[in-house]
Amino acid sequence: MDKETRLRLAVQKSGRLTDPSLDLLNRCGLKLSRGKDQLLGFGENMPLDVLFVRDDDIPDLVQEDVCDLGLVGLNVLEERRLEMEARGAKASFQTLRTLDFGRCRLSLAVPEGTTFEGPASLSGKRIATTYPYTLAHYLRERNIKAEIVTLSGAVEIAPRLGRADLICDLVSTGSTLQANHLVEVETVLQSHAVLIRTPVPLPAIKNEWAERLLMRIDGVEQVKESKYIMLHAPRAALPAIRKLLPGSESPTIIPLEGSPERVVVHAVCRENVFWETLESLKKAGASAVLVLPVEKMLA
Ligand code: PRP
Ligand code: ZN
Repeated sequence: MDKETRLRLAVQKSGRLTDPSLDLLNRCGLKLSRGKDQLLGFGENMPLDVLFVRDDDIPDLVQEDVCDLGLVGLNVLEERRLEMEARGAKASFQTLRTLDFGRCRLSLAVPEGTTFEGPASLSGKRIATTYPYTLAHYLRERNIKAEIVTLSGAVEIAPRLGRADLICDLVSTGSTLQANHLVEVETVLQSHAVLIRTPVPLPAIKNEWAERLLMRIDGVEQVKESKYIMLHAPRAALPAIRKLLPGSESPTIIPLEGSPERVVVHAVCRENVFWETLESLKKAGASAVLVLPVEKMLA
């Protein structure tokens, strides 16, 4: 695999980001061949290979230019950035895009039945976490002195083992907390997936493909919620109908053969179209309303 001509993208091997990351790449048109348990996926139709790694390793792989690009959670990225700052270094990976998946939050959670009256209640407490730098930053900003108990995993059982009074951990569905009788009380960081790139300039061929990939990612993100609406309407109802079409700039208006008073409206709506919208459109005079998913869009 030629480092001079093929882009290398780091993706989480198994976890919250794995499936949506692969789904995104798939929507961008990438065909990956990957043997079972293989660390490297080979891009068959693009000069782009995917390295499957632990998410915690992604910031360094990109920063050290082992990989050109990485898809990683903001939570992991922030923790690494603060850690480097604490060591007097500077994080140099560049964030290219904020992506609409991998949503979760880093939160403080206390054992059920504990009284918690805002961040001030944290004073003097022992907080178990795998995110010591992000937590320290949060506490520092609020002038709170608490003890951070840094663990490498299984944070949720720390209070029961008597190792901590509360925890600071990632929450997405909340089922881990619930199973461990913990209650979320404060959000420390809202997280989602981001695309990062190496600080090192890319050779021209790779750069061109990186740009193409970005454009496709933008296209994919754009159409996610987009719908194509077609409907018939009385010409007189057009102003009302245009107001009802969610997030559409300029609909196409086509005369309807044989009925001068009626037109056909085609519009791309950049927001989801709900039943309520259709009902309002109908009330405004629309008929023959058709809503189609948009597969690709290139602005
Ligand atoms: C986090 C966290 C919990 C779980 C919470 O781990 O440590 O175990 O997710 O999710 P839930 O609210 O849906 O139950 P993660 O899978 O991110 O592991 P990692 O930190 O090793 O990447
Ligand atoms: Zn991890």
